[in-house]
Amino acid sequence: MTSIHVAHAGADYDVIVGDLADARPLLERLAKGRRLPLISDERVFGLYGRVLADVASPDPVLVPEGEAAKDWRTLAHITDRLAAMDAKRGTPIIALGGGSVGDVAGLAASLFKRGCPIVHVPTTLLSQADSAIGGKTAIDASGQKNLAGSFHHPLLVLADPTLLDTLDARQLRSGLAEVVKYGLIDDPAFFDWCETNTPQLLAGDREARRAVIEHCVRAKARFVTADPDDTNGTRALLNFGHTFAHAIEGSAGNSILHGEAVAIGMALAFDFSCELGLCPAADASRVRAQLQAANLPTTISDARLVVSGEGLMNAMLADKKADADGPTLVLTQGIGRVFVAKGVDPDRLSDFLGRRA
Ligand SMILES: NC(=O)c1ccc[n+]([C@@H]2O[C@H](COP(=O)([O-])OP(=O)(O)OC[C@H]3O[C@@H](n4cnc5c(N)ncnc54)[C@H](O)[C@@H]3O)[C@@H](O)[C@H]2O)c1
Ligand SMILES: [Zn+2]
Repeated sequence: MTSIHVAHAGADYDVIVGDLADARPLLERLAKGRRLPLISDERVFGLYGRVLADVASPDPVLVPEGEAAKDWRTLAHITDRLAAMDAKRGTPIIALGGGSVGDVAGLAASLFKRGCPIVHVPTTLLSQADSAIGGKTAIDASGQKNLAGSFHHPLLVLADPTLLDTLDARQLRSGLAEVVKYGLIDDPAFFDWCETNTPQLLAGDREARRAVIEHCVRAKARFVTADPDDTNGTRALLNFGHTFAHAIEGSAGNSILHGEAVAIGMALAFDFSCELGLCPAADASRVRAQLQAANLPTTISDARLVVSGEGLMNAMLADKKADADGPTLVLTQGIGRVFVAKGVDPDRLSDFLGRRA
């Protein structure tokens, strides 16, 4: 087991990467003899609920699978069930599942009785490497991705890479997009590592998976510690590819997975940066080749989406990261050299999107 500390003023926590059964004593200590409320989806609970059977309530709160869980109805369902269980304010809630379960359960925990602690037990590559760390919670609303959310940092995160053995290949590849993102942001050596090790990661090599999860958790911890509440611009770099991705997800509904939209978004961010003369074309080609090697989409047509450039532009302007001068984008000067670009020229962006959609 590896323990990675996330330092965050007043609310530090550990991310334990290793066998879930070995980490159970940590949960037992938090449970103090109580059975903790557990939020999961049917598939994940069916696969792994038994591992937590000693500490969790035998009657889990089950939510729909995937992005469909991130809505007001599910949020209300969770708080109703917590109320029916008479969960106390200090009772830790366990979220067992992928990023969608983590996002809606985290939001419910932050609201219920003005905030209950949450323990994340992420079960996808994306959630183990990224979303379970950092305290961002959200649901989608009014057609916009992550419109309603909060910051609610976890009490503990237990990431067991062996749980990924049952994850289907498409979900795994989707998680790989967020993994590659960490190389593209500020870590070219890690991008090189991803280029070499992607076949092993996809083929189920447990050592490669453990290494990649630990690397990404450490990277995310670094960003979160530098900017816990996403206010000083450091954490904004983690949104590389995401303004494009959120617009694509908003337009395409649940036919595209988050990581797939991020892969397209990162490829578009490289291409747009090249068009603006910021980034060498060779880097954009290398990134596209790496994403394609992982069988991820890199263009809107790859994902067979029917979206218009204008629709994407409107969605980008409506994104939380847009201000009066135009959208704020994370652009790049090359692999490992992303930066926040404020007030991007909307006409130039609109023209670019019109040619890509
Ligand atoms: N909060 C954050 O900081 C943050 C960061 C990145 C992404 N996200 C969010 O995370 C969500 C995507 O999460 P995701 O990629 O983990 O997918 P997901 O949670 O949307 O869906 C995962 C799917 O895989 C299944 N599954 C999960 N674990 C499994 C396992 N071990 N074996 C078999 N099946 C399993 C689930 O039943 C579900 O169908 C998006 O909504 C995205 O916006 C949040
Ligand atoms: Zn993401």
